Amino acid sequence: MPYYGGMSDRPNAFVIHGGTILAGDVVLRGSKNAASKAMVASLLTEDACVIENIPFSEETAITRELCERIGSAVSFEDDHICRMTTPRIREHSVPELSRRNRIPILAIGPLLARGGVAEVPFLGGDPIGHRPIDFHLEALTRMGATIERREHSYHASASRLTGADIVLPFPSVGATESVLLTAVLAHGRTTVENAAVEPEVQNLIAMLQGMGAVISADAAAKRLEIEGVAALHGVRHRVISDRNEAVSFAVAALATGGNILLRGADAAHLAAFVAILEQMGGRVTEEKGGLLFAPAERWARIAVETAPHPGFMTDWQQPLAVLLTRAAGTSILHETVYEDRLGYLRDMGRMGARVDVSDECPEGRPCRFAGRSFNHVARITGPTALHGIDLAITDIRAGMAHVIAALSATGTSVISGIAHLDRGYEKLDERLRGLGADITRV
Ligand code: EPU
Repeated sequence: MPYYGGMSDRPNAFVIHGGTILAGDVVLRGSKNAASKAMVASLLTEDACVIENIPFSEETAITRELCERIGSAVSFEDDHICRMTTPRIREHSVPELSRRNRIPILAIGPLLARGGVAEVPFLGGDPIGHRPIDFHLEALTRMGATIERREHSYHASASRLTGADIVLPFPSVGATESVLLTAVLAHGRTTVENAAVEPEVQNLIAMLQGMGAVISADAAAKRLEIEGVAALHGVRHRVISDRNEAVSFAVAALATGGNILLRGADAAHLAAFVAILEQMGGRVTEEKGGLLFAPAERWARIAVETAPHPGFMTDWQQPLAVLLTRAAGTSILHETVYEDRLGYLRDMGRMGARVDVSDECPEGRPCRFAGRSFNHVARITGPTALHGIDLAITDIRAGMAHVIAALSATGTSVISGIAHLDRGYEKLDERLRGLGADITRV
């Protein structure tokens, strides 16, 4: 079964003539990975919720379909506003929804809180590693749920949800969100150690607090404490701007030699990216209403390691890789969050990049993948000039890296499989054209 679909009636390739300089300004949309969680959070109350800054991407459309099946009335309005009301849970069992994203597992907590039963399909999402959900299932079980794995779904039931002390083996974004969405209406106190504290998680916490949840978060200590309450109420909540979109647009301009102003960018959320960019010689300044990025005279090589927040995000290494092909010398990219997220570099090699991928951690930097034969370290030697090719993309961030590579390359590229990009980037081609890109959807 394909893990992503639904776009078959739309054009499915980009034709890109590379080599033009991208420059100007772009308004960032709301975060894909915060918006979908906010929609699920609204299932926790029968009151109306208003979610501002919703991106109109396939991810929110897929999440809307899930919530509507469950019983929500959802409207997407002008100015990126989403109104959602779930007066009652009409359907607690939605196993037949196809495996198109990672969101259904998060609905288990709200469904259990409101009706004691939940059945959701196995997850989809990008093929970037094994992506287990054992932390979610373990935490839900500790909070009183009984979970059964069926042929195509997880079936959960709970007569009473109770608080628990949870220590996550890794600060998983999804598992932390699962716990939050379950603990807020559970009886008693829940603590989470080694919690994810990504801005998207903090945005979810802010929404839940706005709904009446009692949560305290110590981001530096990666610790959360949640005191369950009897009911939550409606809220008006704003989704943070998309950090992945920010990095994608910034690198697209920089790799072609242009300056770009990202309107709505939050410097604090992008600090780890800005630090790496400045080490490479790029210039970043805070302007009124956004962040201005300017290219280096001569890009310098770097060593970068992906990590949970506040580290350098795993979703940023793919666009960055394009810039590393411009840097003089050998840069090192060490992916420590997902074990299989460097496959896209093969196509980058076909475009002319000098790339060497290995399963050995850089000297003195062992990570949890050490000795496990995962190809998670790349050495990229530059500067090299890229040239256009035809390629098919298989996941959203890798796909974006290929689009950026094609924009900065000489010649023409035809990139198919762009439904992956539509899942997370609203009107990507139109917005890139606004910056001067020669990109057409065919
Ligand atoms: N993990 C487990 N067991 C679990 C959960 C996670 O072993 O039960 C492992 C994963 O396999 C991975 C690591 O923990 O190696 C981190 O996974 P995490 O749970 O943090 O990721 P996620 O919640 O599935 C979200 C974003 C990803 C983003 C990661 C890391 C959404 C829908 N997805 O995934 O975004 O890369 O956090 O920040 O929020 C994307 O947008 O392209 C994307 C993949």
